[in-house]
Amino acid sequence: MENQYIIKGGTPLYGEVTISGAKNAALGILAAAIMTDETVTIDNLPDVRDINVLLDAIEGIGATVHRIDSHTVEINGSTINDVSIDYDSIRKIRASYYLLGALLGKYSKAQVALPGGCDIGSRPIDQHLKGFRALGATVNIEYGMINTHADKLVGSHIFLDVVSVGATINIMLAACMAEGRTVIENVAKEPHIVDVANFLNSMGADIKGAGTDKIRIRGVERLHASEYSIIPDQIEAGTFMAAAAATKGSVLIKNVIPKHLEAISVKLVEIGATVEEFDDSVRVSANGRLRHTQIKTLPYPGFPTDMQPQIATLLALSEGTSTITESIFENRFKYVDELARMGASIKVEGNVAIIEGVEEFTGATISAPDLRAGAALVVAGLVADGYTTVDSIQYIERGYECFEKKLRELGASIEKIPIDDERAVQKFKLKVG
Ligand code: UD1
Repeated sequence: MENQYIIKGGTPLYGEVTISGAKNAALGILAAAIMTDETVTIDNLPDVRDINVLLDAIEGIGATVHRIDSHTVEINGSTINDVSIDYDSIRKIRASYYLLGALLGKYSKAQVALPGGCDIGSRPIDQHLKGFRALGATVNIEYGMINTHADKLVGSHIFLDVVSVGATINIMLAACMAEGRTVIENVAKEPHIVDVANFLNSMGADIKGAGTDKIRIRGVERLHASEYSIIPDQIEAGTFMAAAAATKGSVLIKNVIPKHLEAISVKLVEIGATVEEFDDSVRVSANGRLRHTQIKTLPYPGFPTDMQPQIATLLALSEGTSTITESIFENRFKYVDELARMGASIKVEGNVAIIEGVEEFTGATISAPDLRAGAALVVAGLVADGYTTVDSIQYIERGYECFEKKLRELGASIEKIPIDDERAVQKFKLKVG
C-alpha cells in the first residue's frame, strides 16, 4: 500500500535530532565490501530503501549478508557465484553501477543493468566507462546491460572530463587491485569519496589523495577483513538545518561533521539564521524573516546540488529576490510547480531559479518528484498554514531514515498514512487539532 505524509504546518521545530549514516558513502562502501573474501562489518548504515536494495543485490549474487541490526551488517564476498546483476529493483538505484567497478576489480568481469536513480537530468556514465577502459577493460552496452571484462586490469593515468562523484568512486573500486599504479585527476572531493577510500584502505588498499583533485592508487593483490563505521549524512543534516531555519525553531543536529556542512552553514548565516558549531553537532536557530541571497550549486566544497531544493524552499519564504543556479543537473527544478501550489513565487529560466520571497505558504496536496525535492516539499509543509499532504513519498524513503519520526520528535505535526485513507486523515486532524 502506498503511503503519504500528512502535515499540519506552523510549529517551529525544537529539540535534538541524530543524523544517520551517509547514504551515498554507504552505497560505495557496500559495493567495496564484496571485494574481499574475508568478512567485513559495516556500522552506522542508514536504514533507507536504496541501501536495502543494494544489499539485496549483493545477496542475490551469492555474497553472505548478515544483518546484525538495522544499522550494522556483516558481508562476506567469498561465496559470490554470479557477476551479472539485472533485477528490476537495482535498475531504480543509481549506485548499482558501483557493483560494476567492484566486480570488475575483483573478478575482472561484470555485467550490470544500466542504472536509474532520481530523474534530475541526463546522467551519463561515460566517465566511469572511460576509466574502466583506461584500466584495460573492454566495455559494451547491449540489451540494457553494461558488460565489462578484462584479461587483467593494469593501472593507468586517467583525467576525468567532468567532476563526477560516481566515476571517481567507481574507478577507485576497479583500480585498487589493478596491477601497478593508477592516478585519477580532476576527481570529485565529496566527503563520501574520502569515506569510501578510507574504507578501502582499512581493507588493505593503498589509496592516497582522496579529498583532493588527484587520487593515487597503488594496486594491491588482495583486500582483507575490516570493521568500519560510515560518516554521517551531510545532506540529511543539511535538510534538518533548513527545516529548523524555515520553521523559525532551534534544533541541535547531532552526529554530524560540521566541516562537511560549511557551504550550507555559510548560506544560512548569510540569510540571517544562527548556526553554532560544536565538535560533532550544529545548532541552527532562526527568528523573524530571513533574507534573500544568491546560490550556485557546485561540486564539494561548493554548495551541494542535493541541498538545492531544500534551500530554495527556505529562500521562497525569505525577504527579497534570490537566485539559485543549478550547475550540476539540468532537471532539478521539478518541485517548483508543487511549491507554487503552496504560494511560492519562483520562475525558472534555464538553469537559474529566480525566487521572489513570499510571506507565507498555504497547505496543499502535492507530490514528491524525487528524493531531495520531496524532502524540500515536506519542509514547505512544515511551514505552511493548514494541512499539506505529500504523496510519492517512496522517493523520500530512498534516502531519509524515519524522516517523519525524526521530525515528530522535534515537535512537527506529521504522520505517514495510507494514501486515500480518509479516516486516517480525519484521525490526524482530530489529534493535532
Ligand atoms: C552523486 C550522488 C547524487 C549527487 C551527485 C552530485 C550518489 C549515489 N549520488 O550522483 O546524490 O547529486 O553525486 O553531487 O552518490 N557526468 C558525466 N559523465 C559521467 C558521470 C557524470 O557527464 O560519466 C556528469 C553528470 O551528468 C552531472 C555531473 O557529471 O552533470 C556530476 O554527476 P556525478 O557527480 O557523477 O553524480 P552521481 O555520481 O550520479
